[in-house]
Amino acid sequence: TVNINDNGTVDAKLPSGESVTVHLFGATVISWKLANGAEQLFVSSKAILDGSKAIRGGIPVVFPVFGPPPPDHATSKLPQHGFARSSNWEFLGKSSSESLGDKADTTVKLDFGLSSSMITEEFRKAWPYEFGLVYSVTLSPESLETSLQVQNKGTESFDFHVLLHNYFKVPDVTKIGVTNLQNKTYIDKVDNKQEKQETSDAIAITGETDRVYLDVDPATPVSVVENGKPLFTIAREGLNTVTVWNPWLENAKKMSDFGDEEYKGMVCVEPGAVKSFSVLEGGDAWEGTQTIRPRL
Ligand code: BG6
Repeated sequence: TVNINDNGTVDAKLPSGESVTVHLFGATVISWKLANGAEQLFVSSKAILDGSKAIRGGIPVVFPVFGPPPPDHATSKLPQHGFARSSNWEFLGKSSSESLGDKADTTVKLDFGLSSSMITEEFRKAWPYEFGLVYSVTLSPESLETSLQVQNKGTESFDFHVLLHNYFKVPDVTKIGVTNLQNKTYIDKVDNKQEKQETSDAIAITGETDRVYLDVDPATPVSVVENGKPLFTIAREGLNTVTVWNPWLENAKKMSDFGDEEYKGMVCVEPGAVKSFSVLEGGDAWEGTQTIRPRL
């Protein structure tokens, strides 16, 4: 079943019990529950859901720029992480698939859209390109898949980043590891953006962490593991960077929409295409997809 709610959210529940909730503000997935009711995503208790600020948690969509925009670039006038996460998207509809006779295999896909004419005048002035975004959120008993298609509807090419800013809920961040990034080069944003080489096969989070791993083969899933067992496995298509972020205590305190102690129960692992700007020619389209498998 799919419900469109008065509070600006769309939710879907499978016959097998899994559910997902997407806020039209940012097309932000704000809840993903397994059949037993276990929430998989972190949303801050202080998150603002009235559309006055990007939602602190869930899966914000980052487009067309990741991080603070570079100076002297087409995105320079945009806020950090662009406008997609703080624009009102439209719900385009749902499609479901049921394998014959087996309700437990039913999946549901929710589609959301954002285009140039829907963003605020302020954003349009800051980034005056003709674009269309279609974001598809597919829930199945085994996974949550989210896929962003970027269309250039104009004649002029534009530069863009895409990133899917997953906030995962974890029992204890000090006990997890992020695997399959060994030997990758990363930019350490907490150490003057130095380029470093990852040595660990399971990256531990023991303090403020803000790293962008580069050239990560999308064919190799990245996992969040606990005691050697995966809590989440993230497969990707078209997304060859992975950002790992935890603000830790000091930065948590500086964020008005994040509880001081909440950093202990979350980690962001964010597939993206942010190493450099991708260029999309007029009339062309680009797509990036992640498939997240939980511990079942
Ligand atoms: C991460 C960035 O993706 O998002 C961090 O790597 C940033 O540098 C974090 O602090 C949160 O950003 P924001 O704009 O949602 O506070």
